[in-house]
Parts: sequence; structure tokens; C-alpha cells
Amino acid sequence: MYKHKIAIVGATGAVGTVFLKMLEDRKYPSELLRIFASKRSLGKKIDYLDDHLFVEEIQEDSFFDSDFVFISATTSISESIAELAVKSGAIVIDDSSAFRLSEEVPLVIPEINSKDLTAHKGIVSIPNCSTTPLAMVLACLTQLSRPLRVITDTYQSVSGTGSAAVSELLNQSKSVAVGKEVLKDVYPHQIAFNLFPHIDDLQSNGYTKEEMKMVLETKKILHRPDLEISATCVRVPVIVSHSQSVHIEFENEVKVDDAIEKLDNFPGIKILDDLNNNIYPTPLDAAGKDDVFVGRVRADSYRSNILVLWVVTDNLRKGAALNALQISDSMIEMKLVV
Ligand SMILES: NC(=O)c1ccc[n+]([C@@H]2O[C@H](COP(=O)([O-])OP(=O)(O)OC[C@H]3O[C@@H](n4cnc5c(N)ncnc54)[C@H](OP(=O)(O)O)[C@@H]3O)[C@@H](O)[C@H]2O)c1
Repeated sequence: MYKHKIAIVGATGAVGTVFLKMLEDRKYPSELLRIFASKRSLGKKIDYLDDHLFVEEIQEDSFFDSDFVFISATTSISESIAELAVKSGAIVIDDSSAFRLSEEVPLVIPEINSKDLTAHKGIVSIPNCSTTPLAMVLACLTQLSRPLRVITDTYQSVSGTGSAAVSELLNQSKSVAVGKEVLKDVYPHQIAFNLFPHIDDLQSNGYTKEEMKMVLETKKILHRPDLEISATCVRVPVIVSHSQSVHIEFENEVKVDDAIEKLDNFPGIKILDDLNNNIYPTPLDAAGKDDVFVGRVRADSYRSNILVLWVVTDNLRKGAALNALQISDSMIEMKLVV
């Protein structure tokens, strides 16, 4: 029986829409939900189960009756309202990068480090949508041998940028198809029929912020500050699901069959690996599904302590909304919220 009151900030966005759909699938009662977005959406009616919800604008007293506040808006909104929600007595589960690296804030993937939730001080962060699948694969394979070094190249969908980027890809694709001028707004380059190795701002070390999120967040989640990680993040013209090619160097030899067995038995991971029959995960396979899909598991041609894998995940589900919801489930189960 559901009893916790939930506020969703950013309910009209790419993540918020999926979050509401997941609550509908659980038949979460509408009377326990309040939804918030920007002024632009104030009063907007959103169908929910056989009822509807109305979008509200955030006020000082918006969160007084909330047990959980899920924030899926922007980093600056998270920074400006998280404290207000905590002061109102709510637990904040935040999708943005605002607090992920703060020592005070647990950064959690429940399959890996739900124990970290016990140290929460009101705010819990979810990882970046490409970090989550990488960390899950590494946590799983650590059962076989300690990973020492990881090289990952991502192929990230436009929904990772938000709903405006999805519209941009669709509009540009239509323009190309009919020979019209292609307009750019969200991205610095045309994304339709193109790709670019540029996600988020350039950092002083030559990597982008997205690439460094993968490095620093993975170390924090796995409690492995020594783990060496190098990432190249690429935006591709796909609507949903992020893919990545991952090379992992382990302390000792790891056999492909053992890795496949461990991965397939790890909660939240599913193996799709039969190249002869054209079976390996694709973004379309993963879209709308909860699992992290892994395929093309193979040994490095030169070293028996290196494995190479292909990992695909729905960025809006396990990469965002599902992980957030699983965190609240874990907190309820662990009696961290009454
Ligand atoms: N997309 C992903 O795959 C993904 C994965 C992990 C984490 N995240 C994080 O999740 C957050 C949301 O991402 P998204 O992709 O859903 O973005 P999005 O599609 O652009 O949605 C943004 C949401 O924030 C709302 N918003 C904007 N200004 C607001 C304000 N002043 N007050 C309240 N709400 C406001 C928007 O409302 P209006 O509709 O009224 O503008 C919309 O509901 C971001 O922090 C992102 O980094 C995203």
C-alpha cells in the first residue's frame, strides 16, 4: 500500500515524463502526487491513470507535505530548491550533477551501494546516465578480478540533453528529407545524419565535463579513487538509449564465459550476445526497458586480463527515472524514511 507523498520537479521534461509513466505503471495514487515545472507549464493538465494532475509552480511552502522530492529540471534549479525541500522535511532525490560529487551527498545505484544511503543528510544524487551502466558492469566484474583501468567511448542519444534536443533531431531529419534549410538551436552542429565528440563544456584537462562526470562519479560509487578511467563521449542521432564500448583491464586474467555468467546473473544486467544470429544490444532494443544490456563480450587480442564489451541502456529509465525511483524504494525498505 503506497503512502508516501511525492513531488516531481520537472514533470513535463524528458525524464519527468518517463518518471510519471513509471508511477502510472505502479498505479501510484494520484492523490499522493504533486507535479512542478516552469512558469511556462503552470496549470497544464496531464492525464494520469483515470485522473489528471495539474502542473504547479514552486513556492516557499510547496514541499511541506512531501516525503520525497524528485528533481529532474536543471542543475541551477536543483541548487536553488534542494535546500528548501530538505528544510520542509522532504528527502530530495536529485537527477542533476549539482551535488553528485559533494561529500555530504550519497551518489547511489541501489544494485551497488545502497549502503551509502544511510549517511544521507536529506539529499541523494543519481549518477550521470552513462556512468550508471558503466559502474554496474564494473561492480559486477569486480567479483572476478579487480578492474585497474577502463577506457570507454560512448554513443549518447539526444534525449540525454532533454526534450528540446529530441525535437531538434526530429525537425532536422524532416528538413534534410525534404531538402529544407536545417536549423540549429540546442547543439553547435547539425545532429541529424551526423555525430560529434562534444557533450557538455570543455574542462582545463582537455576532457569534457560529461567525460569527467563518468570518471569521477564511477570512482565515488565504487569507492575506488585509484581506478583509472578515460572516456570519450559522443552525441549520436538516436532518440533514446546510450551505448558505450568499454575496455576493462583487470588485475588478473578474466575468462569471457565467466564474465558472461556473472553479468547475466547481476541484478539489472542482461546479456544479449550471439553475433552469428545478429544478437547484441541496440538503442532500439534497450529503449523503454529497465535493464543494462551487454553484448559483444570478448577478450582483448593481446592480453588475457583485458575484456571488451558493448553496453546499452535506456538513459531515461535506468539512466535517470528508474534509478531515482529505486533509490526511494531502497530508502523505504531500509526504513530511512517513515
Ligand atoms: N535526459 C537524461 O537522459 C538524463 C539522465 C540523467 C539525468 N538527467 C538530468 O535530469 C534533469 C532533467 O533532464 P531532462 O532531460 O528531463 O530535461 P528537459 O527535458 O529539458 O526537462 C526540464 C524540465 O525542467 C523544468 N523546468 C525548467 N525550468 C524550471 C523552473 N524554473 N522550475 C521548475 N521546473 C523547471 C521544465 O519545465 P517546462 O516544461 O515548463 O519548461 C521541464 O519539466 C537534468 O538535470 C539532467 O541533467 C537527465
